[in-house]
Amino acid sequence: MQWKTLALALVLLERGSSQGTMPMMRFSCSQLVVDRIDPLVNPGSMPSPHLHQIVGGNSFNASMDPATLDLPTASTCTSCTFSDDFSNYWTAVLFFRARNGTFKRVSQRQEENLHGNGGITVYYIPSSNAKNTVTAFKPGFRMLVGDASLKAAGSARKVCHRCMPASGDKKNINCGSPDSQTLPKEPCAGGIRSIITFPTCWDGKNLDSPDHTSHVTYATGSATNDVGPTGKCPSSHPVVIPQVMYEVRWQTQEFNDKELWPKDGSQPFLWSTGDSHGYTQHGDYVFGWKGDSLQRAMNARCNNDVCKEINTQTVEEAMKCTKHRVVEEDVDGWLHSIPGDAMVI
Ligand SMILES: *[C@@H]1O[C@H](CO)[C@@H](O)[C@H](O)[C@H]1NC(C)=O
Ligand SMILES: *[C@@H]1O[C@H](CO)[C@@H](O)[C@H](O)[C@H]1NC(C)=O
Repeated sequence: MQWKTLALALVLLERGSSQGTMPMMRFSCSQLVVDRIDPLVNPGSMPSPHLHQIVGGNSFNASMDPATLDLPTASTCTSCTFSDDFSNYWTAVLFFRARNGTFKRVSQRQEENLHGNGGITVYYIPSSNAKNTVTAFKPGFRMLVGDASLKAAGSARKVCHRCMPASGDKKNINCGSPDSQTLPKEPCAGGIRSIITFPTCWDGKNLDSPDHTSHVTYATGSATNDVGPTGKCPSSHPVVIPQVMYEVRWQTQEFNDKELWPKDGSQPFLWSTGDSHGYTQHGDYVFGWKGDSLQRAMNARCNNDVCKEINTQTVEEAMKCTKHRVVEEDVDGWLHSIPGDAMVI
């Protein structure tokens, strides 16, 4: 029996007991642009089918050919506070639908204790066990999590919504109960946080794949809500990569007055895909850290947004890094349709 107790203890040790006790890089990336382009899924299309909000290096554009574009060289600035990070991160955009049928884009803010102009709070999480190193991504690496066409709950782990309290974050593990894949049904005092977490095992060969997902996978023996790379990577995808996670805080509070909500009792928010259920939120990732900076930060087990191994800039500096929209359309007024005329479902 003793070996069982030992095995359990090792599993618990491996998983880490809470989000607070293991190192994780967590930093602010301000809004680079809100635009209807998607170099990963619809390269070259201007416009792409739905609107995205994008952060990171300013070499971002609709084509971004991975064979020729070196993000750290082509970028002149980044909207992230780690100034060696010229990666791009993007997600769908949240809209509010008024009783009169018009739509308004919901603004964003950074998570607690971080500052910036809208954007995404980005995490890179190493293994909780310092002996298990992770391998940073290679130039040209890309991946996608979630599915913009989903009509029911998806299988990607930890893609969900949290109805936020007025302050704090409830302290439960992301996407644990009561977080849900659907959008919250009631007004949220602190807005809605969408959480998007990427897999932690890579095939070690392909920088991308036709569906942008099959070159990476989840570890076997890892639980849905584990924090950081846990479990064992399968032999098809043997390389342990950092766990990348996005948190996006949508400032839905400005629409919390129930007088503004639909009379039929449904909730009024929807993704830029037209989806009012919530299943289609997704995250896109294009790696672009300079040289071996991400590997050094992971090896040093840097925590939060301070890491002496790599270069940092102030939030004020990061916020200056923006781009003009290439698809000329109004995304900020009371709109008669969602950009791209996405069908509302
Ligand atoms: C994107 O940027 C690259 C490199 O700067 C450039 O060659 C390409 O033409 C740009 N594509 C678009 C669609 O703007
Ligand atoms: C529609 O409703 C919103 C929210 O109440 C309001 O701000 C907007 O002016 C209205 N637009 C029209 C065309 O009535």
